[in-house]
Amino acid sequence: MVEKKTEGTEVSEAEVAVHWKEEGYYHPPRDFIAQANMTDESIYKRFSLENFPDCFKEYADLLSWDQYWHTTLDTSDAPCFKWFVGGKINASYNCIDRHLAKYRNKAAIIFVPEPEDADPVSITYQDLYVRVNEFAALLRDFVGLKAGDRVTIHMPMVTELPVSMLACARLGVIHSVVFGGFSGQACGDRVADSKSHVIITMDGYYRNGQLLDHKQKAEEAIKIAEKGGQKVDKVLIWQRHPGKYSSETKLVEGRDFIVNDLLKKYVGKRVDPVPMPAEGILFLMYTSGTTGKPKAAQHSIGGYLTYVTGTSKYVQDIHPEDVYWCMADIGWITGHSYIVYGPLALAATSVIYEGVPTYPDAGRPWRIAQRLNVNIFHTAPTAIRGLRKLGPDEPAKYNYRFKHMTTVGEPIEPEVWKWYYKSVGKEKAVIVDTWWQTENGGFLCSTMPAIHPMKPGSAGPGVPGIHPVIFDEDGKELPLGSNKAGNVCIRNPWPGMFQTIWGDRARYVSTYFAKYNKKKDSKDWRDWPYMAGDAAMLAADGYFRILGRVDDVINVAGHRLGTKELESCCLVVPEVAEAAVVPRNDELKGKIPDVYVALKPGVKPSKEIEEAVKKAIEENIGKFARPKDVYIVPDMPKTRSGKIMRRVLATLSNRSDKVGDVTTLMNPEVVEVIKKMVLER
Ligand code: WT7
Repeated sequence: MVEKKTEGTEVSEAEVAVHWKEEGYYHPPRDFIAQANMTDESIYKRFSLENFPDCFKEYADLLSWDQYWHTTLDTSDAPCFKWFVGGKINASYNCIDRHLAKYRNKAAIIFVPEPEDADPVSITYQDLYVRVNEFAALLRDFVGLKAGDRVTIHMPMVTELPVSMLACARLGVIHSVVFGGFSGQACGDRVADSKSHVIITMDGYYRNGQLLDHKQKAEEAIKIAEKGGQKVDKVLIWQRHPGKYSSETKLVEGRDFIVNDLLKKYVGKRVDPVPMPAEGILFLMYTSGTTGKPKAAQHSIGGYLTYVTGTSKYVQDIHPEDVYWCMADIGWITGHSYIVYGPLALAATSVIYEGVPTYPDAGRPWRIAQRLNVNIFHTAPTAIRGLRKLGPDEPAKYNYRFKHMTTVGEPIEPEVWKWYYKSVGKEKAVIVDTWWQTENGGFLCSTMPAIHPMKPGSAGPGVPGIHPVIFDEDGKELPLGSNKAGNVCIRNPWPGMFQTIWGDRARYVSTYFAKYNKKKDSKDWRDWPYMAGDAAMLAADGYFRILGRVDDVINVAGHRLGTKELESCCLVVPEVAEAAVVPRNDELKGKIPDVYVALKPGVKPSKEIEEAVKKAIEENIGKFARPKDVYIVPDMPKTRSGKIMRRVLATLSNRSDKVGDVTTLMNPEVVEVIKKMVLER
């Protein structure tokens, strides 16, 4: 069974719901509608449940197939669904080769280095074709990779990252991109789980004005992977500055290779894209869940590419003429779907920015937009909050013009939405608030930009072909406008949906389906609603407002962190006996983890132990996960059966008085002590 409703998030989410009143509508500008890819409301009729699953042919026909499929949806192994069975396709071909005839000399990617004195670099579709072919030849002929093998890519935001991904896709090799900000340890765990023999990395990259040594993380990753039973044979290292090695770590003979040197042997080489089965695996993407072990969402080739292409065209409104900039990191699903695969499948120009949005100041994104003539902009609430705080008047100083802006990753407060709309969009751009997850491949809820009005703080209805529903704890449907929150589910499968958790079908079924599935052996998709793990409300107008996670996952600045993952890091510190991690609301990051630890008997609390806990989290996961506050408590508040009451801690962390009845606790007196401790910070 799915784990019970957890403590922890409940209290703060309920507060969000109470404080956010219904907002009024904002209508899409007329000139946006005039040029939009989708203005025809009947798309919702075409994608209604009566026309499911064949409606998705409309999206699949945006792609070039080596062989057309015979079965749109195969449910024989439900809930592991197969799309476009019998079809053969290659993702690299669809993102590159097929555009050459028309768009050879058009920019596919514009790379913006973080140092502002370095000019942006344009990579045409022809350039991309050459680079991907040469690197694919290297992967095949030097490394010996073949379809179905896994490769871990641990890289920063540089052109060589999509080049590496697309070279894998060309060969049918499964890529597992690990966010560059993850530590070597976190990378190593993922190398072991995916059983990768090869790591592709880069020597260094710029972040916040510094050239960071990135290759050093590979050393740690290899050690950890080996402990986990996976040997790494080869490390391929791209140079941030070709011809110069920007890392302190030595190259290990026979294991480490500089890609830029090796490539000299592959100049002019071409590799035929391998026609892959539609239901083959394109990539793995790790994400956090309720247990400590990270899990990989396994995404298909044909279904995934179909879905990201369709949603990029209609929800992102991408045309080949557009200059599209998504400020997410390619190391997360947003970057895979909406920096690399979706925009490139549509022959757009996709901007890749190396660094921090506020480097060297909060005007940077708007200077980039002005210089490159960006007209579609895509980012997360946490970035919007940061830019609003540091430079509320910066956008007005620059001469750019967005037609379309996206927000993704966490709920956006209406106040922040309005700044985005007025100041960043200059009241001329539509906004789509897109709700979805790593597991989903592409958008689930959003307004259609030229069809629906926008409503600050609400994502909108299900996008075409997605039929969301809110169930209460007993599986009863909450009606429109009920004003109650419940578990948001999707009634039907869709092509972008992950196929399973890599190597763990049981966890896939129990996490996402078990709670609302009534017939375990059913082969009918109607019996398998997908449970997202978010609480949501459905307004009378059919717009969904997503409130946040109902499980043990904390969404920190749009990054998903499992509380169990964080807690197990704390226990690495020898003095720590118990740890509890809870979400605290934060003005900039949405949520941040607050850490509570109890020490082993006889150990005195100290600043050093607090620091050691923070360091442990940094080393195990990455700097981005570092908590602000670590509280060393005399004891955890516990139920009589000894279960830590995280809900009580979360209430205290959020400076709320509503701790509720604690008299049934084993140690009610400790609540007051912790409360005092928190308030004194
Ligand atoms: C969780 C998924 C794929 C998007 C990037 C994050 C939250 C995502 C929204 C939104 C409110 C949102 C949910 C979801 N979330 N988008 N527009 N409004 N909440 O992907 O790391 O898999 O996280 O992010 O809680 O479950 P992810």
